[in-house]
Amino acid sequence: MNPDVVQFSRGVPPIEAIPARELAEHTEAAVAELGPRLFQYPPIGRYLGDPTLREQLAKRHDADPDHILVTNGSLQALDLLAAHLLSGSGAAVYVEGPTYDRAARIFERHGGRVSSIPLEADGMDLADLRERLRAEVPAFVYTVPDFQNPSGVTLSLAKRGELLGLAAEYGFTVIEDIPYRDLRFHGETLPSLSELAEGARVITLGSLSKVLSPGLRIGYVISDADTALELATRSEGVYLSPVGLCQAVAARALGSGLVTENVERARDFLRPRHDAAVRSVQSSLGDALMAVPDGGYYVGVRVKTGSDPDAFLDRALGAGVKLISGSAFYPSTEKSTVDTMFLRLPFQAMTPEEFSTGVERLAASLS
Ligand SMILES: Cc1ncc(COP(=O)(O)O)c(C=O)c1O
Repeated sequence: MNPDVVQFSRGVPPIEAIPARELAEHTEAAVAELGPRLFQYPPIGRYLGDPTLREQLAKRHDADPDHILVTNGSLQALDLLAAHLLSGSGAAVYVEGPTYDRAARIFERHGGRVSSIPLEADGMDLADLRERLRAEVPAFVYTVPDFQNPSGVTLSLAKRGELLGLAAEYGFTVIEDIPYRDLRFHGETLPSLSELAEGARVITLGSLSKVLSPGLRIGYVISDADTALELATRSEGVYLSPVGLCQAVAARALGSGLVTENVERARDFLRPRHDAAVRSVQSSLGDALMAVPDGGYYVGVRVKTGSDPDAFLDRALGAGVKLISGSAFYPSTEKSTVDTMFLRLPFQAMTPEEFSTGVERLAASLS
């Protein structure tokens, strides 16, 4: 790949947002404290993960530690959860359109009939969901409510309440996936779906990848005690037990306040990148912007490609910008044929100059 090509590809944290030195110190301290035991198999038999880490996560989310299973990254939690909720049943699953691509693929792999609910500037179109519920109630609705991957859209407070009302009325589960939730650069944090749940069943997926380190591979799922044990049994059948060393380091990082400090540092580092990215999309692509994200890693746009999607992506690459096809962010059965394409523009790992060069090249490829 030509190094001059601007790549709008993955949501990898910038290396500056990972507290490597402090993590090395915590690793040394964890080894000194726990000794050879850290290098033995962690326990098996419905093991939910490092008890100290679960205590820390429970405090962070005001949850019961017995409701938390810690996994090797939250994608693994999603895979275990999909296996548990779908068991190859062919049940319906509703996701946002666009949605996190890997989530859609996981649900499809576990036999879900995945279809999307259109995403608006304030979250999924609930009139559309309501209509769809009259025809079929899904096993679950999957949402990334804060600074969504891939669009940057946040589900509004009013829609959070309405979605939960529908979940309680029709009896479906809501999975909220919240890895970006703490990375708010402007405005007030909204309550999470689990905080608002009342009569609805909400399962929360969390991750330390974007607030501490993706290399530690610490993800978790917060559900209820029975589901947590069920998922733990499934996890043992796949990888015996999770990585004890990483969990011990993560427990120290949370307990010492490093995660809280690092969230502040990451926000300060990313805020100018976010602001510059929004300005450059507004000036080069105008009303293609789906929403001003105010947090997270991504800006989402809907553009008129004026041609077949593949021809447009080739033209953009020729102009020096590599883009992921928007159809990747939809269920496989919904490949778009129209000339409007969704595009995800991650801004977190680029300087403002690099980002705006990419957006200008993108704009030039549209005409
Ligand atoms: C919405 C969403 N969920 C889950 C993940 C997976 O994160 P993890 O590193 O915890 O596996 C990502 C990673 O980018 C993500 O954007």
